[in-house]
Order: sequence, then C-alpha cells, then structure tokens
Amino acid sequence: MQFNTRKKHNIVKNHQITKTLVSEEQVKKTVQRLGAEITAHYGRLERELMVIGLLRGSFIFMADLVRQIKIPLVVDFMTLSSYGDGTISSGDVKVVMDLDSSIEDRDVLLVEDIVDTGRTFSKVIRMMRNRNPRSLKVCTFLNKPEARIADINIDFCGVDIPNEFAVGYGLDYAQGYRHLPYVGVLQLGSDK
Ligand code: IMP
Ligand code: MG
Repeated sequence: MQFNTRKKHNIVKNHQITKTLVSEEQVKKTVQRLGAEITAHYGRLERELMVIGLLRGSFIFMADLVRQIKIPLVVDFMTLSSYGDGTISSGDVKVVMDLDSSIEDRDVLLVEDIVDTGRTFSKVIRMMRNRNPRSLKVCTFLNKPEARIADINIDFCGVDIPNEFAVGYGLDYAQGYRHLPYVGVLQLGSDK
C-alpha cells in the first residue's frame, strides 16, 4: 500500500506499508483476550473501574477494549506529548491535557497503544501513583520489548512486536495512518 503525505514546505513523501504486524483478525482476537483477562482479574469492585486512555494513540484500542470488559466502568483520557512528528522517542514527556476526574481511592487501569522505550508509561505511572489510587494496573495493545529503556511491569499485554516503526489501529506517523484497521510497518520514502 502506498501513501503520500504532505509535510512542511509542501513536499510530498512516498511512504509504504511494507508488512502487516497485526492483522484485523488478530486485533480482534487480542482485544477479546485482553477484555476477558481484565474482567476476570477485577471481578466485583465496590465502585466502577476507571479506565484511563492516553491520547491520541489509544483511542481506537480503548473504544474496542471497553466493550470487551464486562464489569461496570467509567472512562477518562489524558494527553501527553512524546514524539512530535518524528519516529524517534525524545524521552521528553509533558502533560498536554490532564484527567477530568480524581483517581484517589479508585481502581485505575491505564491504557496505552504501544510501550516502546517505556519512558512515557513509566512517567505516567509515577504521576498516577502520587494521586493515591486504590489500585493501578497497566494495559498496552502493542509492546516492543527490544526497545525498552525504562523498567516497567505491564499487567495486560496485547502483542509483542519487533523494533520497527508501526502505524495503524491508533498509531500514527505525523498524525496519519491512525485509521488503518490493522498494524503495519511504515517505511519512509524520499521526497518526490
Ligand atoms: P515510549 O515512551 O518510547 O514507550 O513511547 C510511547 C509513545 O510513543 C507511544 O504512546 C506512541 O504514541 C509512540 N510510539 C512508540 N513507538 C511507536 C511506533 O512504532 N509507531 C507509532 N508511535 C509509536
Ligand atoms: Mg503517539
């Protein structure tokens, strides 16, 4: 599949999805499995589970995942900046939009699209712990174990992928490709 992306100064780049990492079918099965694991883990809670998605990458996964969790829950979102428009993690993580609600004394499940170096997640986990939730667990759709720098424990993990740049199912390159219903490897083309 071939895509043209207009970047700064109106240069057209030819990028290509060179291989599929997670097919649509595999996406569906993975989300069903994670939903079942999460449902079984929590069982009965006194109050609703708080499912917190990190934007924008997790929005599609969140929407599918919450429909596979069969216990009462509420959702909230937080936006962090990480990559800018490139493909290399800067390690510099900022809160762009915070949660609407307090997580104090609540059972919280953090949801990410992908854990790469782990810097983003480890920073968010630290930040969330300081807010004194009753419990805190983390879930990611994709995991790149080879790229890990920060040491974090993932409670609910979707699919391990190799250390390549992935797009689709919420993951972007320069804000594009998020709507692909599968996950593929993006090879960056040269200027046209
Ligand atoms: P980390 O802090 O290096 O773990 O990176 C976390 C964030 O970087 C994720 O939430 C993604 O938004 C983005 N990211 C990491 N790897 C990829 C990738 O392969 N494709 C698209 N975005 C990625
Ligand atoms: Mg992102």
